[in-house]
This record gives sequence, structure tokens and C-alpha cells, in this order.
Amino acid sequence: MSYVLPLVLGYLLGSVPFGLVLTKAAGLGDIRQVGSGNIGATNVLRTGRKDLALATLLLDGGKGAIAVVAAYALGWRPEIAGAAAFLGHCFPVWLGFRGGKGVATYLGTLLALWFPAGVFACATWLGVAFVSRYSSLSALVAAAASPVALFAMGKPAFAAAAAFMTVLIFLRHRANIARLLEGAEPKIGAAKGGST
Ligand code: G3P
Repeated sequence: MSYVLPLVLGYLLGSVPFGLVLTKAAGLGDIRQVGSGNIGATNVLRTGRKDLALATLLLDGGKGAIAVVAAYALGWRPEIAGAAAFLGHCFPVWLGFRGGKGVATYLGTLLALWFPAGVFACATWLGVAFVSRYSSLSALVAAAASPVALFAMGKPAFAAAAAFMTVLIFLRHRANIARLLEGAEPKIGAAKGGST
């Protein structure tokens, strides 16, 4: 029971595709037909709607954080709930299991799971983004560093959950990694992205 409820409820919470819902509600059509085709905040920004991109970031991050906070409050395993929300975002049943890349939900999950590690992940993302202007590269560096940081902070169970999510983040950024290597990845705020 300590696994099933956080898994199911975390997954359902994480599966709400806020980027898609917000852009559709704003009359912008299907975000999956825009830029990289991703449903996350970086791609919502490519519509030119900074407000919707910020809302997507906060809501996608928030659903990971809420899953973890709820699990803490209910005595469930918080890292299971957070990882489930992350899985829900990446593989939502409502979209035929074709969801986002999980970065905002990962950051929100880490912030609620162990705040110093969340701050470290966000600061790493911001630092790399400030220097490189690549959202994907920032996510990859932050995701690679965060399990190590959690382990160093004495949180091995949380580090293991983060490492699981990090592997998925890398897998879901395969096209971004290829574009980064080719020098073809669009920078943050550029109008157009690649096809995946
Ligand atoms: O958070 C997603 C970001 O790392 C990449 O987004 O749309 O450029 O593939 P996108």
C-alpha cells in the first residue's frame, strides 16, 4: 500500500499535460505541432506567450511538488510519489503515453523532496542556461548532477529515485542531444525548434 497509492495518485497528477491544456485554451492550437513538438514550457515559449510558458513551468513543476508534499503528509514514500508524477508527465495515458520530457516536474519533485537538492538543481539549470542559452543542455547537466548531490547530502533513496528520472530525462532528450552535437539545437526563446 505504501507503494501503490503514491504510484497511482502521483501518476494521475503528473499526467495532466498543462502545456497542452493552456495553449489549447488560449486558442493556439496543438502545441505538439509547434517547434520541438514537446508539451513543456520551453516549447510553449516558442509560441511567443511568455505568460503561458511561465504558467506551464510552474504547473508542471507544481504537480511534482504536490505529489511529494501529499505523500509526506500521508506517510507515503515521497520519492515514489514524485517519480510517479514524473512518469505521468512523460507517459500520460490521456495522450497515448506520449508526453513531455519531464524537466519541470523533476525540478518540482526535487524541491519538495529535499529542498537543498531542488535549489541545487534549479541553480545548475539557471547557471548553464545563463551561459549556454540551451534549455535542453541545462536540463541534462542539472539532471546529471542532482542524483550525485542528493547522495552527497546523505539521501541515498532520494538519489536513487532521481537517478531513475535522470536516465529517463536523457532518453527523452535523444533528439536534443543529437541537435546539440550538430550545433542545430535552438536556443531559449528562438521561434522554431526541431521536430522531436
Ligand atoms: O524541458 C525540455 C527542454 O529540456 C527541451 O525542450 O522543446 O527544446 O525539446 P525542447
